[in-house]
Amino acid sequence: MSMQDRLNELSSLREESRMGGGEARLRAQHERGKLSARERIDLLLDDDSFVELDRFVTHRSTDFGLEDQKILGDGVVTGYGTVHGRLVFVFSQDFTVFGGSLSGAHAEKIVKVQELALKNGAPIIGLNDSGGARIQEGVVSLGGYADIFLRNTLASGVIPQISVILGPCAGGAVYSPAITDFVFMVRGTSYMFVTGPNVVKTVTHEDIDMEGLGGADVHASKSGVAHFAHDSEPEALEAVRELLRFLPQNNTESSPAGSGEEPAEGAAERLLALVPDNPNKPYDMVEVIRCIVDGGHFQEVHQSFGGNLLVGFAHLGGHAVGVVANQPAVLAGVLDIDASVKGARFVRFCDAFNIPLVVFEDVPGFLPGVAQEHGGIIREGAKLLFAFAEATVPKVTVITRKAYGGAYDVMNSKHIRGDLNLGWPTAEIAVMGPKGAVEILFRREIAQAENPEAATEEKIQEYREMFAHPYIAASRGYLDDVIDPRETRDRLISGLDMLRNKRDQNPPSKHGNIPL
Ligand code: HXC
Repeated sequence: MSMQDRLNELSSLREESRMGGGEARLRAQHERGKLSARERIDLLLDDDSFVELDRFVTHRSTDFGLEDQKILGDGVVTGYGTVHGRLVFVFSQDFTVFGGSLSGAHAEKIVKVQELALKNGAPIIGLNDSGGARIQEGVVSLGGYADIFLRNTLASGVIPQISVILGPCAGGAVYSPAITDFVFMVRGTSYMFVTGPNVVKTVTHEDIDMEGLGGADVHASKSGVAHFAHDSEPEALEAVRELLRFLPQNNTESSPAGSGEEPAEGAAERLLALVPDNPNKPYDMVEVIRCIVDGGHFQEVHQSFGGNLLVGFAHLGGHAVGVVANQPAVLAGVLDIDASVKGARFVRFCDAFNIPLVVFEDVPGFLPGVAQEHGGIIREGAKLLFAFAEATVPKVTVITRKAYGGAYDVMNSKHIRGDLNLGWPTAEIAVMGPKGAVEILFRREIAQAENPEAATEEKIQEYREMFAHPYIAASRGYLDDVIDPRETRDRLISGLDMLRNKRDQNPPSKHGNIPL
């Protein structure tokens, strides 16, 4: 064969591999409102940066008639490219090839990019669209999943791992995304469940469709499995690109610097009006954050889940930071099970990847109630405490209003190695709120008083004067300073500059035993 013939053969094989499961299946994919595996990669990566690997791999199965159905690439497109000029590895399952199902060969392709990503210290992004284990391959396919799960686990805390769910993701297949750091879903076309609606119907007699059982909104708001839900695939893929702006390549690097753009004009002044004079009135902590961070841009994570605690990324004077904040506008900013778990996972991500933590605190305590106690608020709340306590990245806290009870300790207090703890003049640090305290301490006096209501009010006033301010904490050094809210941005930036070379470590151990 001449060189020219060989080049022609190569080019026709390349063309064949690009066709996946063929035109009809590709059309069906588009008709469902879904993009092809390659179109997704094109949207995710910088233009023309994708380099494909293993395009000639085929399955090795000879069972159930598969031997005459070999499709180049075997249902997954893998390789590397760049996002904002930085290296990332990617795999993109092709539903047009055996429903994107995972064969031994398909798994080996994914494992190869997982190992390359780990060795080369770059994020890996998985675009999932698959009918699960390739039924014809039996245990080989199950083994392939386990090979992927192992790499997911070993890469955890070493390189950022992102999963985008763009079709079915069912059965054991869900556990790879579940181990990764961030899960994106798309409304109407993606779903995740361990057992589908038919099995559910048989076992529990519950009638539910795919979207209701495991659609994007369910996982973004109820189960918390998904961190982001989007209306379309292009939107989800663009959001992945945005998220990567805040992340380092791996656990030995820092995140890229932001532009340091100032927030909107007058933002600092607006802070003075945000916290209401009445301590029981809510306000929106997102507004507070936007008035402080670079360009007013706060990239919220887990926006629809556990809304009483906000977590997300921002830049402050160019430093990428992880923000954790109580949200007084939802359940008064109380800590409950969902909020604790959400916060703990985020704090651990930031700590693993050298992203400083900035906490805005206004918390009336942990949520009381039988459901919370029986649901394990002791164990779940301990996760957040553990996560903050073990974190060795720069840790900064601003108390805007309430810091009551155990929640004061948990929310990155000085006592668990907060590096810089600041309070606004509106900060109140106490074992509990005034009403609860007075009812416990003066129950008898109040019962015997001529006018119990007036007596309660009087005691509440006394208590507020005694405790509802930041100066006792500041006099003990638990707060490093009490600041004018308008100074917050500058003080946080100077704190982050000061902590830039912070070195701290925990005693040697195989690993801690976070209360799971
Ligand atoms: C082999 C599969 C497949 C599979 C789909 N296909 N799933 N081939 N193994 N798991 C093939 C179909 O035969 C079909 O081939 C093509 O993919 C598209 O599938 P359709 O059924 O036509 O598509 P759709 O109607 O959209 O339904 C998609 C689906 C359904 C909901 C995913 O295919 C389905 O229920 N598949 C089985 C899901 C499943 O039970 N998987 C195993 C889960 S257990 P043609 O040639 O017609 O195009 C698991 C264990 C993991 O994954 C273990 C980890 C520990």
